Amino acid sequence: MITITAATGQYGRLVIDELLKRGVPASGIVAAVRDPAKVTDLAERGVQVREADYDRPETLVSAFTGTTTLLLIPGAVFGQRYPQMRRAIAAAAEACVGLVAYAGFVNTDTSTLRLGEEHKQTEQELRSSGLPNVMLRNGAYTEMYTTTLGPALEQGAIIGSFGDGKISAATRADLAAAAAAVLTSDDQTGKVYELGGTAFTMSDLAAEVSRQTGKPITYQDLPVDQYAKILAGAGLPDAFADLLADTSLAATRGDWYTDSTDLPQLIGRPSTPLATAVADALKAGPAPTLDPRS
Ligand SMILES: NC(=O)c1ccc[n+]([C@@H]2O[C@H](COP(=O)([O-])OP(=O)(O)OC[C@H]3O[C@@H](n4cnc5c(N)ncnc54)[C@H](OP(=O)(O)O)[C@@H]3O)[C@@H](O)[C@H]2O)c1
Repeated sequence: MITITAATGQYGRLVIDELLKRGVPASGIVAAVRDPAKVTDLAERGVQVREADYDRPETLVSAFTGTTTLLLIPGAVFGQRYPQMRRAIAAAAEACVGLVAYAGFVNTDTSTLRLGEEHKQTEQELRSSGLPNVMLRNGAYTEMYTTTLGPALEQGAIIGSFGDGKISAATRADLAAAAAAVLTSDDQTGKVYELGGTAFTMSDLAAEVSRQTGKPITYQDLPVDQYAKILAGAGLPDAFADLLADTSLAATRGDWYTDSTDLPQLIGRPSTPLATAVADALKAGPAPTLDPRS
């Protein structure tokens, strides 16, 4: 039985879709979620739905019972991820889960990202738990950049502190396909996958958006303090604006870049090109404001 936590989320749902596409029977998949009412569609498709709230540890052991392979997807709140993952790992050990896959962040060993700290702690916790484990170090979601183009389209500029930093972003769907490949393959214990797509800079993104929209759009690089102020001025809480600006600056330190070919190898095809991700986002209509998740 394969159990996916945080399965109401965008990435978790895509992983379940990919497992079903790969022929895993729905009855062999558990969607472990905080709120079962959000996944009645999955229950209708025959997927087992169990309550699993990282903040209510009493729900976790029963959610993981009978699991051969568990995909642990962290929650979205900075500062809570590590304590939540620690509880989930303890529950996985108690439930004698066969293999735990952790959906972390690219370059965990070397990353200077403040956002990366909890992923480092979680990987360490998982290793010292003695549970067989595999690390899925996800690169930045391409959608973080392509679905937040509203202000750039209005103002003619993408702003940030990315410099010329290369970002090996990948779509959620590609990363989910890679996860499904790992979850359904033998001999995964001890493996570490660095999952990134073809790298681009923010100038590349601006050029692609210009090309597709016919509007002149440039990338405007800003000092990190100024970028944080602009984010705060757009309504983000100060601490979160600082964190997001640091996340942007981290591109200049190489934190978002990988030359690993793990992603195309796992999915058996090249990763989705930036041009396709931009076209999909423009078709869907970019959100007018920043995505407040991290
Ligand atoms: N690689 C990247 O670029 C990147 C970017 C952003 C985030 N991330 C990380 O990847 C994760 C998955 O991404 P996503 O796009 O699927 O995020 P998402 O759509 O925001 O989903 C977050 C998921 O976390 C669940 N969750 C929150 N608190 C929980 C709790 N206490 N117990 C159990 N589940 C809880 C949510 O459940 P509810 O539906 O009940 O709220 C939801 O299913 C994020 O949570 C974040 O840690 C990675």
